[in-house]
Amino acid sequence: MTKKLNAAKKAIEYIKNGMTLGLGTGSTVEIMIEELSKKIKAGLNVTCVSTSNRTTKYANDFGIIIHEFDSVSKIDLTIDGADEVDPYLRGIKGGGGALLYEKIVAYNSEKNIWIVDDSKLVNKLGNFPLPIEVIPFASRKIFMKFESMKLNPTLRKKDNKNFITDSGNFIIDCKIGEIENPKELEKELKMIPGVVEVGLFIDVADYVIIGYNDRTEILEK
Ligand code: A5P
Repeated sequence: MTKKLNAAKKAIEYIKNGMTLGLGTGSTVEIMIEELSKKIKAGLNVTCVSTSNRTTKYANDFGIIIHEFDSVSKIDLTIDGADEVDPYLRGIKGGGGALLYEKIVAYNSEKNIWIVDDSKLVNKLGNFPLPIEVIPFASRKIFMKFESMKLNPTLRKKDNKNFITDSGNFIIDCKIGEIENPKELEKELKMIPGVVEVGLFIDVADYVIIGYNDRTEILEK
């Protein structure tokens, strides 16, 4: 908790009055949202867009208004979490199932900051199961394709039912192990019809703020 809070507080320092902000998804972002709400109550003026229904609800509960993503002309800064980060600021995201909107919001942001605790740091991506969002219509075929690619797929479940993303799709988590070339793998997977998005975020983060108990460290592109 302290680690995530330290990272969240550091990220808040990058927020300037008048900015349009993208709010990521996950427990670390939720800590950041609580801190942000204090700043807004103290007079900070920002316009916020969200990457998930979960974040929208959380932000609303703290009095933060969320604008439609497609209604804002630009996003100055997005602050998001990550499930794994390597030394080249590449990451795996989607543990919370929000990878599609997270990637869209990140792509449309001037700057992207990820906030993580030190447990998320890895030398090579792939220990965390890679979330891949797929169209339900083709999910069995895609699952079999992933099996043939030796990606060790599992269809994500919640309460014994298929997990459904905010855009109505399924998620297949692939326990791949060390990924030698994340960029190539992302491309290869996205070429499969019915794959909507892949949880590999390659040239996305500008800064990664790592929270420790007593400090933060910042990785920069
Ligand atoms: C959500 O889909 C993910 O990409 C999150 O950003 C990720 O799971 C980080 O969540 P925590 O901050 O809870 O670890």
